[in-house]
Amino acid sequence: MRRFLMTDPSCFDVSYRINPWMRPTAWRPEVLPVAKAASASLKNALKAEGAIVEMIGPVRGLPDLVFTANAAIVLDGRALLARFRFPERQGEEAVFRSVFARLKSRGLVQEIVDLPEGVFQEGAGDSIWDAERRLFWAGYGPRSSRSSIGAIARTFGEDVVGLELASDRFYHLDTCFCPLTGGTLLYYPAAFTPKSQATIRARVPQTQRIEATDEEAAAFCVNAVDLDARIIMSRAPASLREKLCARGYSLTEIDLSPFILSGGAAYCMTLRLDRTRERRPGVVKASILAAE
Ligand code: ARG
Repeated sequence: MRRFLMTDPSCFDVSYRINPWMRPTAWRPEVLPVAKAASASLKNALKAEGAIVEMIGPVRGLPDLVFTANAAIVLDGRALLARFRFPERQGEEAVFRSVFARLKSRGLVQEIVDLPEGVFQEGAGDSIWDAERRLFWAGYGPRSSRSSIGAIARTFGEDVVGLELASDRFYHLDTCFCPLTGGTLLYYPAAFTPKSQATIRARVPQTQRIEATDEEAAAFCVNAVDLDARIIMSRAPASLREKLCARGYSLTEIDLSPFILSGGAAYCMTLRLDRTRERRPGVVKASILAAE
């Protein structure tokens, strides 16, 4: 059963600026009801795909708590809790810690792990599991520290490919990088340093790369949730819809504009709690033989 974590957006607003999309002066209280409706649509889209959605209650003074992808990296029941770069979001750490303690008491996660001192890492927003390639892609630079790459590798015992983010506009990996079912990669090349662009090209053949345009990236469409080739994302330009449909993906688009005012959309408003390593048949067989 797919299971996601979201936050009730009742305390969401844009009251500070820690990325260039955020414009506190543009925020109006009238946007809140629109945000609540948008968040409910996203939740319903997940439920329509058969997912269970766990909800965190709103916390006054923590508007960005709605971006649950930043809470932790979760794989096979192990959760590596995030540490935030900016003081504006550091208050979320204690909330997410208690949420994960509760999930653990319900048996929905098995183990909670902390980052080493001094390492910043902003959860699944900057560390994306690629089920087809069986590795993590980890963004660093604006938010997560470069040293988070080693911490993720040690925690999960899997390969981690570090990608340096080149701009403050695409400050989390999930704003510009989205591995899809079947091995296709939707990404926005200009968000990465030339060296990291070369790393991506070396690992993902051209036939599997879909490059997002400036317009598609600015619409936060790369920040998408892929559920077995059904993709949930913010409202997409027709160009992107065509590219994805031509490859057999189907799209559910949701107007997430209130959250784009804070620099986030579908992927970062949700955290997948039941993500597992893709088990290769050979590996399963080997462990069964070993147990006999
Ligand atoms: N305002 C939030 C911030 O700047 C948005 C976070 C969006 N999260 C994400 N994983 N892209 O931290």
